[in-house]
Amino acid sequence: MTATEAYIPAPAAPLLSVQRVDKRYPNGTVALEDVRLAIEPGEFISLLGPSGCGKSTLLKMFAGIETPTHGHMRWWGQPFGTVGSKGRRMSMVFQEATLMPWATVAENVRLPLDLAHVPRREADARVAEALDGVGLAKFGKVLPRELSGGMQMRASLARALVTEPDLLLLDEPFGALDEFTRNRLDSDLRALWQRRGMTVVFVTHSIYEAVYLSSRVVVMQARPGRIIAEVPIGGPLARDDAYRVSEPFMQHCKALSELITDAHRASFANEETGVQS
Ligand SMILES: Nc1ncnc2c1ncn2[C@@H]1O[C@H](COP(=O)(O)OP(=O)(O)O)[C@@H](O)[C@H]1O
Ligand SMILES: [Mg+2]
Repeated sequence: MTATEAYIPAPAAPLLSVQRVDKRYPNGTVALEDVRLAIEPGEFISLLGPSGCGKSTLLKMFAGIETPTHGHMRWWGQPFGTVGSKGRRMSMVFQEATLMPWATVAENVRLPLDLAHVPRREADARVAEALDGVGLAKFGKVLPRELSGGMQMRASLARALVTEPDLLLLDEPFGALDEFTRNRLDSDLRALWQRRGMTVVFVTHSIYEAVYLSSRVVVMQARPGRIIAEVPIGGPLARDDAYRVSEPFMQHCKALSELITDAHRASFANEETGVQS
């Protein structure tokens, strides 16, 4: 290299990359077709779309629970086998809190550390920190059934965070909660993301929730499941209740709503005329 040549570092691989992925279930259902996506470190991505468009299937593929029928996926530029090593940790939160009913909240949260044989003293300290991070510092000793639905989801979130994941995957985690509780949990999740600098992929069918939380919204459509748009969400980094009624928030919601309505209308018209989209 001569002195006049600038040193250009090789671009780092995306944290997650999905290249021309199809997913056909054994019963013949085509859940996803030609999905292409790259997720960069530190992003907050929402997968937004109607029921049946393949959001959960795609998230399960990110988690290595499902595999593509065609196409390629990479995690930190590597095959799935490298996930779990330092700097490449991943956790998933499901729609139900999935807590062990016979174990205390703290024991539930400690489970991933017990499975990893983390010494008890260190594990207890990390559990206390994780519970504190989700606002459950005082509830470690109670059983899950003594908590409200929102608090159970907080415990589930603490269990996912206790391993300090670099990538957090959430599948409609707050979908079963009332709107007020959901808004509160959305705010807390957004603050956690900012504080920890992790990458988040969040599945939802709520336009409002996607706009509130995300740095980028990936819009999906059904039959077959595919990505129809990727929409960056600007606006303030810190999002509070005032953001929910702000002009930029409303504009993003309106634009996404129109995009989804148009896409729905087009696919409906194609179905009527038999045109393949
Ligand atoms: N294990 C499975 N076997 C067969 N079909 C499935 C399976 N899981 C999901 N599907 C189908 O794949 C499509 C996408 O499902 P899913 O990923 O759950 O969508 P979403 O999460 O967006 O509602 C749907 O038609 C669904 O019925
Ligand atoms: Mg789903």
